[in-house]
Amino acid sequence: MTVRELREAYLHFFSQKDHAVIPSASLIPENDPTALFITAGMQPLVPYLLGEAHPAGRRLVNIQKCIRTGDIDEVGDDTHLTFFEMLGNWSLQDYFKKESIIWSFEFLTKVLQLPLEKLAFTVFAGEGNVPRDEESAALWISLGVSEKRIAYLGREDNWWGPAGQTGPCGPDTEIFFWTGSDPAPETFDSKEKRWVEIWNNVFMQYRKDEMGNLHLLSKPNVDTGMGVERTVVALNDLPSVYEIDSFQRLIQTEEAMSGKAYRQSEDTIRAMRIIADHVRAATMIISEGITPSNKDQGYVLRRLIRRAVRYGRSLSMTKPFLSALASVVIKDLQEFYPELEKNAQSIFSALTQEEEKFLKTLEKGLREFEKMFEKDHQIRGESAFILYSTFGFPLELTEELIQEKGQTVDRQKFTEEFKKHQDLSRAGAERKFSGGLADHSEKTTKLHTVTHLLQSALRQTLGPHVFQRGSNITEERLRFDFSHGEKLSSEQLQAVEQFVNEQIKRALPVRFENMPLATAKEKGALGVFEEKYEKLGSQVKVYFIGDEKRGYVSKEVCGGPHVENTANLGHFKITKEEAVAAGIRRIKATLEKMA
Ligand code: ALA
Repeated sequence: MTVRELREAYLHFFSQKDHAVIPSASLIPENDPTALFITAGMQPLVPYLLGEAHPAGRRLVNIQKCIRTGDIDEVGDDTHLTFFEMLGNWSLQDYFKKESIIWSFEFLTKVLQLPLEKLAFTVFAGEGNVPRDEESAALWISLGVSEKRIAYLGREDNWWGPAGQTGPCGPDTEIFFWTGSDPAPETFDSKEKRWVEIWNNVFMQYRKDEMGNLHLLSKPNVDTGMGVERTVVALNDLPSVYEIDSFQRLIQTEEAMSGKAYRQSEDTIRAMRIIADHVRAATMIISEGITPSNKDQGYVLRRLIRRAVRYGRSLSMTKPFLSALASVVIKDLQEFYPELEKNAQSIFSALTQEEEKFLKTLEKGLREFEKMFEKDHQIRGESAFILYSTFGFPLELTEELIQEKGQTVDRQKFTEEFKKHQDLSRAGAERKFSGGLADHSEKTTKLHTVTHLLQSALRQTLGPHVFQRGSNITEERLRFDFSHGEKLSSEQLQAVEQFVNEQIKRALPVRFENMPLATAKEKGALGVFEEKYEKLGSQVKVYFIGDEKRGYVSKEVCGGPHVENTANLGHFKITKEEAVAAGIRRIKATLEKMA
């Protein structure tokens, strides 16, 4: 079965079960400042999962374009992709576990005719107030599934959502397919990599609030997601997602252009897979009107393109090749995503422009990299920043290069250089900065720390929709832009000031920990989705204000620097509150000496 046949079979099956087919939403989230891309089919449906009526009814089905960059380092292995398509069916306060499980089973075993011997299932083991999901397990067993092929797992595995920091979530049941060439073992083992997850049925019974508390929804939903590419692998007994029809067409084109065979070596396999994945994702992103830049989605796009170009060079492809590959992608997907054909010209020109720009500095940058390494026997954070600013090397590229030599880059130093540069260019743009380096004087450090307290105070006072949208600090004042629709009342402003000053009085310790982005997200740190951290890759610095005993008033991903304790910050005072754009407010504030 091909990708196209799978799409049709899925939509047909669920239409027959009274699901309305809705179109894929844009890859760029419309009303969610916490996410750069749509990562799951449910994301555009959040209001409906929380109870609003959907115009198409209570049963929906679609194929959603998705981008996940969290696993970008794993792209090129057998299962990971940045762009992928997700098949999804939803019950909006309509059917629940029984129908969902029965239909998934029917679709997999009857329509797709996947053998039961190759399927395994996981269900939620229960935790806190959320019970063990005996019901789902009993449903699978009633359909003929062996108990040995059902595993009860915890929150790490069998809980999904919310997609951002708050919203609908719940326990799930996941379906795995055996991809090994030998017969599937009798008992399922979640650690065995040859069991690949293909479908996830989430029973959305809860809403997670700002404080991390779960509230039972008055009526539950079902949200399912099935990866198209992984399922085609299962259907055709293929060894990897890159062996499916649409990727093979890309890889054949790469073979023709490079004169190298895909299976020549481990390196050619990996390089050709990465190029195929990245060109496909880049093509889809540009078709949404995004162009390469140093910000947000544009930066992710730039990273994908430059990474593809660098792997192209490793295959001796030193002339522009991205457009030729993009035309293969467009041909493959245009039937489902008409924006591809419509924007074909701009896709080609954006790709080629970025490619030519990078090709000009790539060789020089690589030579510079070697020189730096020879001189220092390492790549210092400052050097990584020069490679970034002068030669256009995304930090991740420098990291990959240094990893090949068995070392790492000092991210912290890079971040510091990066922040200096950022502060400088901002200040430059405003012509407010006079002379020299960005300063990290005592005053700006204090203002920096109090900015974290301010964000907490605003979220506390106004609600969890408040997120930082910009920040600028000078010797005299802080300036903080945040998402909020209305002017703040004087009571609200007072409450914010008071909250901040109370935290100062509590003399709370300020400390940081380095951790993977995913852990920061789990710990509920703010800022994890913002562009500047996205581009700094997976390891981030999280600043905590507070302690175990008294609780934390702020957890934020941030490069620092900060003071060590809130005690000596002074008295916090808001000097101005105004609008900057639709839905964005700005606060200016100072720290006065304590009386
Ligand atoms: N939203 C669920 C997922 O992405 C279905 O796995």
